[in-house]
Amino acid sequence: MQANRIMEVLGVAELAAIAAAEWNGRGDKVAADQAATTAMREAFNEIDFSGRIVIGEGERDEAPMLYIGEEVGRGGEEIDIAVDPLEGTNLCAYNRANSIATIAIAPRGALLFAPDTYMWKIAAATDCNGGLSIANTPAQNINALAEALGKPVSEINVCILTRDRHADLIKQVRETGARIRTIDDGDVHGCIATAVPGTGIDLYLGSGGSPEGVLACTGLKAIGGFFEGKLAFELDKHGAEKRERAEKTAEVDLDAPLTMDMLVRSDDAAFIACGVTDGEMVRGVSHEGGSISTESVVMNAADRTVRFVRTIRRGASGTIRF
Ligand code: FBP
Repeated sequence: MQANRIMEVLGVAELAAIAAAEWNGRGDKVAADQAATTAMREAFNEIDFSGRIVIGEGERDEAPMLYIGEEVGRGGEEIDIAVDPLEGTNLCAYNRANSIATIAIAPRGALLFAPDTYMWKIAAATDCNGGLSIANTPAQNINALAEALGKPVSEINVCILTRDRHADLIKQVRETGARIRTIDDGDVHGCIATAVPGTGIDLYLGSGGSPEGVLACTGLKAIGGFFEGKLAFELDKHGAEKRERAEKTAEVDLDAPLTMDMLVRSDDAAFIACGVTDGEMVRGVSHEGGSISTESVVMNAADRTVRFVRTIRRGASGTIRF
């Protein structure tokens, strides 16, 4: 992906984060999400490219903006886009850590049109030479990772979303002796954090949104980490209906493990996350002296780089302080 294209899309994520951050701590996750989505869509439509939303805010009939299949941009290079304008809506609404505005971009056809349902996920910094798999038991995965990282199982930290459906998973992980970091929301960050030293997270296990799975996989692909998923229609109350719809257009076996190359079919993909609230990977939006500061991470699979970008926007009457 061309560097200038990435910079343009970075600007889109920043504007979405700034819009969402107006709602930090105001207890209204719907308004926060709406603000991020509106800002993101407006900003995409200022770019000279032909963007197609493959992961978005929902199906055409349920999402007025950034719906799956929506075309954005003023025309030009054909790009596929996965977005979560505000990942961690509750984290933003209650001013908790790690709420981000996220975008993944790739050449046309490279990102899986994942059905908007649940996905079982496993993520780590390494695939342990084939030792990790979504088909394994938690114990098998934890033991393989402990061996690959050269530390005892008791020092492996597994990140899991706090959900009733994870009770058995948590029990199985506890039985191995590994540690658990539960998170209330935000599994894009949870998955990517496995490959970010300093977060203290070694492994991500559990189920979350499949759109979030494609986003996290793009980031992990760029930074050389590991991700695998498996669609989980059984966890979704509208799962049967969604499965029926997905079967008509399925690009993959809906019951098979989804590898990184199935989810993101190009090495020319990039993942961008801009902080909304302060987090472990990036800081949130802040205002000072009339200027607005954002911090983002850009993971580019094409040139195998990770860049941290701090941007300060000077307000009409403000001055820049840094
Ligand atoms: P939102 O940003 O849409 O609120 O999603 C947050 C999130 O925690 C995701 O990170 C995760 O994939 C998903 O929700 C899990 O879904 P559920 O809350 O239904 O278990």
